[in-house]
Amino acid sequence: MLELERQEWRSRAFSRAEMRRQVAAGRAAVGTLVAEDRLVGFAVATPGWLARGATLNNVLIDPAYRGRGLVWPLLAAVERELGTRGFATLVIDARVDNGFADAIERRYGARARVLARDHPSLYGAQRTIAVELSDPSGGRPRRASRRSSIDR
Ligand SMILES: CC(C)(COP(=O)(O)OP(=O)(O)OC[C@H]1O[C@@H](n2cnc3c(N)ncnc32)[C@H](O)[C@@H]1OP(=O)(O)O)[C@@H](O)C(=O)NCCC(=O)NCCS
Repeated sequence: MLELERQEWRSRAFSRAEMRRQVAAGRAAVGTLVAEDRLVGFAVATPGWLARGATLNNVLIDPAYRGRGLVWPLLAAVERELGTRGFATLVIDARVDNGFADAIERRYGARARVLARDHPSLYGAQRTIAVELSDPSGGRPRRASRRSSIDR
């Protein structure tokens, strides 16, 4: 993971200690992508600042494996793990310049809610998006169903 991180972000890469802290955090969810016996992608989420919300700390795919939509099954694995740990939302500070923020909104549709419009960060412009996690039982998104029952 550290190798992929440093290759991508160079001087802005998370330190070894920070990577270790994220992966080892209590209730962390880690997704991995393996190809040809090699780790070619990973995603890490940890408890965040929203009640029952997790934050995506990192998602990274080896450049040789990008452009095939592999990020979606990777995030789906993290979502499933978060669901089993009682989380209802995943907050993503998504990069704007590489189209990732738009792709997330497109992909998750009504499950995606913009919490903060595009703003500058050390990693370039970012958009903060909250994604409702699907019910692990396959039912409707939890927050949506709870809210509609209150509204009625
Ligand atoms: C972001 C990242 C994980 C995406 O992984 P990926 O599997 O290669 O994603 P893809 O290239 O298949 O693209 C996923 C979506 O983004 C869109 N996209 C990708 N590059 C784009 C660009 N330059 N402009 C507009 N849209 C773009 C694709 O069209 C696709 O959308 P779709 O699923 O609706 O068709 C990967 O690019 C990466 O590791 N980047 C470096 C680290 C990083 O930026 N992490 C995100 C931090 S928030």
